[in-house]
Amino acid sequence: MVARIVPVDPFDLVVFGATGDLARRKLIPALYHRMHDGQMPEGARIVGVARAKMDRDAFRRMAAEALDEFGGEVARDTEIRDRFLRTIDYVPLDVTSHEGWDALKAALPDGEGRVRAFYLSVAPRFFGDIAQGVHEAGLTDAHSRIVIEKPLGHDLASARELNGVFAGHFEEHQIFRIDHYLGKETVQNLMALRFANALFEPLWNGRHIDHVQITVAEKVGVEGRGPYYDGIGAMRDMVQNHLLQLLCLVAMEPPSHFEPDAVRDEKLKVLRALAPLTDPDALVRGQYANGPGCPSYLDDAERGASNTETFIALKAEVANWRWSGVPFYLRTGKRMKSRVSEVAVVFKCAPHSIFPAASGRAAQNVLSLRLQPDEAIKLGMTIKEPGPGGMRLAPAILDMTFADKLGASNMRMPDAYERLVMDVIRGDQTLFMRGDEVEAAWAWVDAITARVDDEPPALYEPGSAGPDDALMLMHRDGRRWRELVQQ
Ligand code: NDP
Ligand code: BG6
Repeated sequence: MVARIVPVDPFDLVVFGATGDLARRKLIPALYHRMHDGQMPEGARIVGVARAKMDRDAFRRMAAEALDEFGGEVARDTEIRDRFLRTIDYVPLDVTSHEGWDALKAALPDGEGRVRAFYLSVAPRFFGDIAQGVHEAGLTDAHSRIVIEKPLGHDLASARELNGVFAGHFEEHQIFRIDHYLGKETVQNLMALRFANALFEPLWNGRHIDHVQITVAEKVGVEGRGPYYDGIGAMRDMVQNHLLQLLCLVAMEPPSHFEPDAVRDEKLKVLRALAPLTDPDALVRGQYANGPGCPSYLDDAERGASNTETFIALKAEVANWRWSGVPFYLRTGKRMKSRVSEVAVVFKCAPHSIFPAASGRAAQNVLSLRLQPDEAIKLGMTIKEPGPGGMRLAPAILDMTFADKLGASNMRMPDAYERLVMDVIRGDQTLFMRGDEVEAAWAWVDAITARVDDEPPALYEPGSAGPDDALMLMHRDGRRWRELVQQ
């Protein structure tokens, strides 16, 4: 199957922070791939902005290096690469200054009627200056969009303040708050699986589901991101956004339409239904220690001491009719055994076994949606072991990935940013967070961080599954975490 490409109308994309890590690793390669796949229209203009004094050619060389490093094999197509680089311009500008905005305006002549997106790939302290700067420079109109990267604040109060800053210059339908997890293929498949099939919905509740596990485990540590990460930690960096968004997609009611506000209304209801997490046994915080050849978090972050957690495991409760009694176990951590991100829906055991003990035990059915490192959807079943020898029960995995059947196994899976940047241009906010969602997530997180921020996290070995207490969190409930399978 060939991916269906719907070209977008010519647009202007201004990337503030165009020389930074995110722009080089994700945005420039994502835009290149969209051109390579035929989605970028003739006449699209991409303008990079940062303080560094350089001309357009020097920036194009920098973009070419980013493609070499992060663009993969398809970035070697010289014809498309040249065309892509010709699309790019650069304007040196300190966004905190009043100077230089005219040069940006001059780089974008005849923009009337065009979609113009401002991508804020800079530290949040610059968001207000940029929102005001583009407005005062006369660069905005009804077709403008502003794209904001996480962190969207560090607590409820700062998130409200940020939302206020943007609301002063843009309508909510012009504000695109990125959570790149929502652009991942399997995350969208979760919605297709739930809402395009009648099969699972009758079972999707506390009568049939025992519990849900959401894991985002990383092998990497914080490396050079210590200054950002220290004082933020896994709760604010990962749980408040990525993991809660995944939880919302599992737990939400079917929206009436696959349309931005219908989807976001349902996610918001889930966030507001989260019960306050007050049981100290329902939360485990960890920090990676040093291990063979592995610096500790304190070394990575260049801190003498810190209570910042690099691992968190918790038991959340969605207090509504559908999910009453179904725990949602969330865990995320850095420097863990392997890179695994998945959502696992664990169904209840069959109510009664008709088979003799000698047949073996039927395992619980598990629907697992793997986001990383490979995308996969699998259903764990119990079957009869083939062949003679009586009724012997055996576990079997029903692979529902379907990539082979759809002929998509050789297809390059687009990075989340490719999908999300093009959604911005199309003006489709379905996969972006609304301001009230972000605030509701912070309200739940704030109550937890206020209680535990000052407590020292338990140390765990790099390359492990986190602190032992995390295992206990499940064991106490008679359950266990799914294996972090080494890749
Ligand atoms: P970097 O520090 O690598 O880049 C920051 C960019 O901002 C540089 O291009 C810098 O260029 C520019 N900049 C700094 N000050 C100014 C200024 N006064 N005027 C104009 N430009 C300025 O950050 P990242 O790329 O890592 O992150 C950018 C944003 O994205 C942050 O909010 C981050 O939290 C978020 N994010 C990043 C992720 C990542 O993987 N890197 C993942 C998710 C979110 P110069 O110094 O030349 O001005
Ligand atoms: C970012 C976090 O939002 O997501 C990082 O700030 C984390 O700390 C990253 O490493 C993980 O994203 P992915 O797509 O690699 O799972």
